[in-house]
Amino acid sequence: MKLELLLIALCFSFLNVRFLLSGATDCQNTSTIAYTITVSQSGGANFTTITNALNSIPSDNNQWIKILVNPGTYKEQIAIQKDKGGCIILEGNDRTTTIITFDNHFSTSNSTTFAVDIDNFVARNITFKNSYGIEALDDTKRAQAVALRSYGDKHAFYSCGFVGYQDTLWDYQGRHYFKSCYIEGAVDFIFGNGQSVYKHCSINVTGGGYITAQSRSSTNDNSGFVFRKCHVSGTGHADLGRAYDAFARVIFIDSEFSKVVNPEGWFIWHQNGHESDVTFAEFNCTGPGSDTSKRVPWIKKLDHFTVKQYDTHAFINQDGWISKQPL
Ligand SMILES: *[C@@H]1O[C@H](CO)[C@@H](O)[C@H](O)[C@H]1NC(C)=O
Ligand SMILES: *[C@@H]1O[C@H](CO)[C@@H](O)[C@H](O)[C@H]1NC(C)=O
Ligand SMILES: *[C@@H]1O[C@H](CO)[C@@H](O)[C@H](O)[C@H]1NC(C)=O
Ligand SMILES: *[C@@H]1O[C@H](CO)[C@@H](O)[C@H](O)[C@H]1NC(C)=O
Ligand SMILES: *[C@@H]1O[C@H](CO)[C@@H](O)[C@H](O)[C@H]1NC(C)=O
Repeated sequence: MKLELLLIALCFSFLNVRFLLSGATDCQNTSTIAYTITVSQSGGANFTTITNALNSIPSDNNQWIKILVNPGTYKEQIAIQKDKGGCIILEGNDRTTTIITFDNHFSTSNSTTFAVDIDNFVARNITFKNSYGIEALDDTKRAQAVALRSYGDKHAFYSCGFVGYQDTLWDYQGRHYFKSCYIEGAVDFIFGNGQSVYKHCSINVTGGGYITAQSRSSTNDNSGFVFRKCHVSGTGHADLGRAYDAFARVIFIDSEFSKVVNPEGWFIWHQNGHESDVTFAEFNCTGPGSDTSKRVPWIKKLDHFTVKQYDTHAFINQDGWISKQPL
């Protein structure tokens, strides 16, 4: 047992070193905001569009800048590219009143309404939406239509909304924290290679499909989606996830499922033969959809000790970045 603990400790310090080497460079004056820019469609603010507010931020930025967005529906397609540097906070008034929306559906990458490709990003009280396919009556009017792409280390989302139908939330890469968010969709609507914790989130299934499609590709790949105290409901029916790659990892802990969750729970998809490599698990979940008696036989059963490795601190916040970001 002692040796096991030592090995695990070594393993975690190795992961920490990896983060220091490959992770985000910290922002200057870590927890202070250098200045705030305001956006309002009705005037009286610095800018009337979020695009222009972002354009005013110099490239290679490394001090925290807040963009405060007044209520409104902003029809804009935005990409915060890598050369912007990082350290941006986007804050709306409330996710139900401050909405960024677009309706592209060309492909997964260029359909994205709001793409964040920098490290160190915070969003609060704002909804990211891709409206394509939501109102469609049949599948010919549906396609990949991403609302948000999170591609960078240290992204935190508080009380945000992610609304779409297929591929809503592209949790692409990096350590991400989603707290008290609302996520709506039907097909693979939380997908990618992110290393993420979703806490107290509300997931609304609006069709027949799959909640997650995680793409962890090897045992060395740190990615995975951990849902804790989340609530899954809706009008459709869905599996909790399907394996997008051979080592896909998705874990629901202390969450509540309505009967929207299919009895079999999970789908191997194109990863036949990798059932034992995939980590799909449920721990201490409740509600009518949480009965695991008819689940696929290859789900993982986690013990308390393993579950601890998936708490926010151990899984994504080893260096305490979450509380270092300014409010
Ligand atoms: C935003 O507006 C305020 C008040 O008019 C002004 O002091 C500030 O310089 C403006 N900031 C930018 C980035 O335009
Ligand atoms: C975000 O919205 C919630 C209500 O949905 C509100 O209680 C909270 O104060 C807002 N946070 C900020 C920072 O405005
Ligand atoms: C989007 O990507 C598709 C193929 O991936 C391409 O055919 C299309 O021209 C692109 N559209 C835009 C607007 O970039
Ligand atoms: C789920 O989404 C549908 C479609 O947008 C909406 O009508 C419904 O109110 C949502 N449910 C919840 C609980 O938010
Ligand atoms: C299971 O979840 C309940 C809340 O639904 C919580 O009170 C309890 O502590 C959890 N049990 C374990 C073993 O984690």
